[in-house]
Amino acid sequence: MKIIRVNDYTEMSIKAAEFMIEKIRRSPNINLGLATGGTPVGLYEHLVKDHKKNNTSYRNVTTFNLDEYIGLSGEDPNSYRYFMDQHLFNHIDIQKSNTCVPLGNAKNPQQYCVDYEKLLTVHGGIDIQILGIGSNGHIGFNEPGTSFLSETHIVELAASTREANARFFNSLNEVPTHAITMGIASIMRSKEILLLISGESKRDALAQLLQGEVNENFPASILRTHPCVTIIADMAAIGKI
Ligand code: GLP
Repeated sequence: MKIIRVNDYTEMSIKAAEFMIEKIRRSPNINLGLATGGTPVGLYEHLVKDHKKNNTSYRNVTTFNLDEYIGLSGEDPNSYRYFMDQHLFNHIDIQKSNTCVPLGNAKNPQQYCVDYEKLLTVHGGIDIQILGIGSNGHIGFNEPGTSFLSETHIVELAASTREANARFFNSLNEVPTHAITMGIASIMRSKEILLLISGESKRDALAQLLQGEVNENFPASILRTHPCVTIIADMAAIGKI
């Protein structure tokens, strides 16, 4: 894993945007794996700025998001589809039909998981996957204990994840209990991974990722076995490592 150290969240976001823009310009029909949460917001902001200023085009780009809350429609302001529209898709020239975010309100969620996994394969897989990390080491919504062989599936969210994400909702009660997420195996099939880590609350997670065992109890640890991972981490997350 290659680690790029940066001073703070802003620098992480700028570096991540430069990294992505270079890839998109080089391969205009790239398949991007996208993440939500607070971490990539700055990255998306810089991608939008660049699109407006330099006209980097997303016309032939296809995107796949990692996860979505079960029970929320795409119009719900807390859904990840809404998040992606607001932070990125509405501001660039991407074709909406090329943006794939798992459906939180699919009629048959189990079948939908199979279909989403197929969709990834049919499109030839993800070229570069952006990831954040939960403080318990989750990636996507793959909580500790998730099989490294898992594909897209339904998960029950850990109490700590619901608490961490409650800041986006009116109350903890409103945070859905379940989500659909790409599995660990689905994520690992990406040709390349860009992991963003910012803030003191992620310090232990980063230390465990770099120094702990590769173990299903810490899902992100599997990234140590991927051939092409870049981590951009800020000083607050790096601490004394
Ligand atoms: C959320 C998302 C993950 C995200 C992580 C960290 O639950 N499902 O994709 O990477 O938790 O979120 P944040 O960036 O807000 O710290």
